[in-house]
Amino acid sequence: MNDRHFDALATRFAEKIYGGAKGAIRLAVLQADLAECLPERPLRILDIGAGLGHMALWLAERGHHLTLAEPAAPMLDGARERFAAASQPATFIQAPWQDLLGELTEPYDLVLCHAVLEWLAEPEAILPVLHQLTRSDGLLSLAFYNRDALVYRNLLKGHFRKMRRNTLAGEKQSLTPQKPVDPRELRTWLEGLWQVEAESGVRVFHDYMPTEFQARAELIDLLEMELAHRRHPAFAGLGRYLHWICRPL
Ligand SMILES: C[S@@+](CC[C@H](N)C(=O)[O-])C[C@H]1O[C@@H](n2cnc3c(N)ncnc32)[C@H](O)[C@@H]1O
Repeated sequence: MNDRHFDALATRFAEKIYGGAKGAIRLAVLQADLAECLPERPLRILDIGAGLGHMALWLAERGHHLTLAEPAAPMLDGARERFAAASQPATFIQAPWQDLLGELTEPYDLVLCHAVLEWLAEPEAILPVLHQLTRSDGLLSLAFYNRDALVYRNLLKGHFRKMRRNTLAGEKQSLTPQKPVDPRELRTWLEGLWQVEAESGVRVFHDYMPTEFQARAELIDLLEMELAHRRHPAFAGLGRYLHWICRPL
């Protein structure tokens, strides 16, 4: 298995993930979490697997200095266009995370790694590299596709054969990730490197709503309710993605 660079998935990703409520909820939760913990001063920020640059642009518009690293040219081109349209400067690097230590020398105040782990062949290998790329007083914003939520969705849909065969990962060219992340396993990978300071669920109820209620709901209400319940002890762990703010040990 190789890392899945999004060369052929860029358009589908833009439409399916950021074309509707799913992307809006994702951005709202990540932004609310970051707004709580970022200092007021301008920061040097590295976004690894930056994709189309949605989060990076939001941070650039708040006065931070952004470096976007992304191996897939169509994704990085999309990010460049998004920054140009907003007249925001940034540094763009076409590279996978495996090449970054060779290219970047000074560690960053904040490193973003959003929805990348689940596309990697060896997700645990990136964590020490993220640590080296983050200042000792900096932060890591780690968002990942939650295997628990995938299991729960399959149970709700009655996909028991799939469950018994343990065939939950996405197929080639699917937007279901090839390696959904088990949060308990991830915690063991973080040991000795990262301390988790804040945890939220992304889409803790939206994706489980019956479609007729989903279609009828106003986005503004969905955002308010998702934000209000993102840290609820019973629901946070059901988020389709989990967002962990981590501090280096
Ligand atoms: C689901 S997208 C997430 C994009 C963006 N971070 C976001 O949250 O919108 C996953 C991204 O990871 C990138 N990726 C895959 N393998 C990678 C690697 N080895 N190093 C860095 N990025 C990688 C893909 O090309 C893709 O753009």
